[in-house]
Amino acid sequence: MKISTKLAQIGNRQDPTGAISFPIYHSATFAHPGFEQSTGFDYSRTKNPTRQVLENAIADLEEGTRGYAFSSGMGAITTILALFSQGDHLLVTEDPYGGTYRILQEVFQDFGLETSFVDTSDLEAIRKAIKPNTKSVFVETPTNPLMKIADLRGISTICQENNLLHIVDNTFLTPYLQKPLTLGADMVIHSGTKYLGGHNDVVSGLVVVKGEELAARFGRLQNTLGATLGPQDSWLMIRGMKTLALRMKAQEENAHKIAQWLLNHPAITKVYYPGLKDHPGNELQLQQAKGFGAMISFRVKDRELIPKILSSLKTISYAESLGGVESLITYPATQTHGDIPEEVRENLGVDRSLLRLSVGIEDVEDLIDDLEQAFNK
Ligand SMILES: Cc1ncc(COP(=O)(O)O)c(C=O)c1O
Repeated sequence: MKISTKLAQIGNRQDPTGAISFPIYHSATFAHPGFEQSTGFDYSRTKNPTRQVLENAIADLEEGTRGYAFSSGMGAITTILALFSQGDHLLVTEDPYGGTYRILQEVFQDFGLETSFVDTSDLEAIRKAIKPNTKSVFVETPTNPLMKIADLRGISTICQENNLLHIVDNTFLTPYLQKPLTLGADMVIHSGTKYLGGHNDVVSGLVVVKGEELAARFGRLQNTLGATLGPQDSWLMIRGMKTLALRMKAQEENAHKIAQWLLNHPAITKVYYPGLKDHPGNELQLQQAKGFGAMISFRVKDRELIPKILSSLKTISYAESLGGVESLITYPATQTHGDIPEEVRENLGVDRSLLRLSVGIEDVEDLIDDLEQAFNK
C-alpha cells in the first residue's frame, strides 16, 4: 500500500463500531473482565486505544517494530536519553534543535551523561569523535537551522562497526520523505507538533524503534517515565496525519519557489535549502530521501533590519515552531537556539543575521509578496 493511502486510512476499520474516525477513548482506566483478566487495556499511561492507533500508524509509516507517542518531542527525547547510564558518551549533531542541546547540557550532564557535539554531515568527524564509552550517535538531518545533510547509511555503518545506537530526529522530513530505519538507523524521533500534526494545534512526540529487544526496553521506559500523549491529542495527531502527503507536497513546492526567489533577492546574502542544486548534500539527499522538505534558512544582508522585517510581515507569522499549514518565521538566535551559548552559536553560523522560514500551504505568490513588502519597509 502506498504511503498516502496508509496516511488517509489511519484509524479506519479498527473500531468495532465501524467508526471511520477512530473514537477518542477518554478513559484513564479499564475494567478487568474477570480475575487477573484484561481486555488488553488496563490503565491509559500504559496503553490507550486511541494512542495505540497513532503508535501503530507511526511504526508502520517508519517501517519499524513499534511506535510510541509522547506528550511532546522533548518528552520523547527525555525518554530516549533514559536508555543511557552514568558515564556513557553520546555524539550529537552540532546544530541540533536548541531544546535537545539544553536537555543534554543542563539536565543529563548532571546525571553523568557526556555529550560531544559534532558535524554529523562529516563521517570522518564522527569516526574521530568516538571514545571507548561512546554509546550512540544522535543525528538531525537536515539540521536545524542550517540544513546540513547527514549521510544516514554511512553513519549506520559506523554505528554497526562500533556497536552504537543510531538515533535520528526525522522531524523535518517525516516518513513521507525519509525513512531512517530503512537506511540502518535503530530509532527515529519526531516532534509530532510539526509536520505530522501539521496544524499548529497539538504538541506531541513520536518514537519508532527497530528490533523486539529495544522495543520492549523502550516500552517499559515510556510507561515508567510516563510522558505519554493523552487520547484527545492522539486523535488530533491522527486527524492531522491523514493529510500529511498532500501538505508535504504543497509545502515543498512552495519552498522550492521561495528559496529560488530569495536566492535572487538583493536583501539576502545566503539561502540554506537542501533543494537548491548548490546546497552541500543536495545529491546525497536525493539518494536517501524522496524530497527536501519545506524549511528554509536565509541570511539578511543588513541584520539591523531584522526587527523591522519580523514586525512587518502580514501573512507569515513571527512565531516558534514549524511544519504546520500556516507559514511561520523564526529568529533562531533568540528563539529556537537561544539556549546555545552565543559564542558556540555564532561559530556554528546561527548568528543574528539568520532567519528560518517554515513554508506553509498558502498561495506562494502571497508568501512572496509578504516577504517582499517586509524586506522593503
Ligand atoms: C527538530 C526538533 N526536534 C525536537 C523538537 C522538540 O519537540 P517539541 O517542541 O514537540 O517538544 C523540536 C521542536 O521545535 C524540533 O524542531
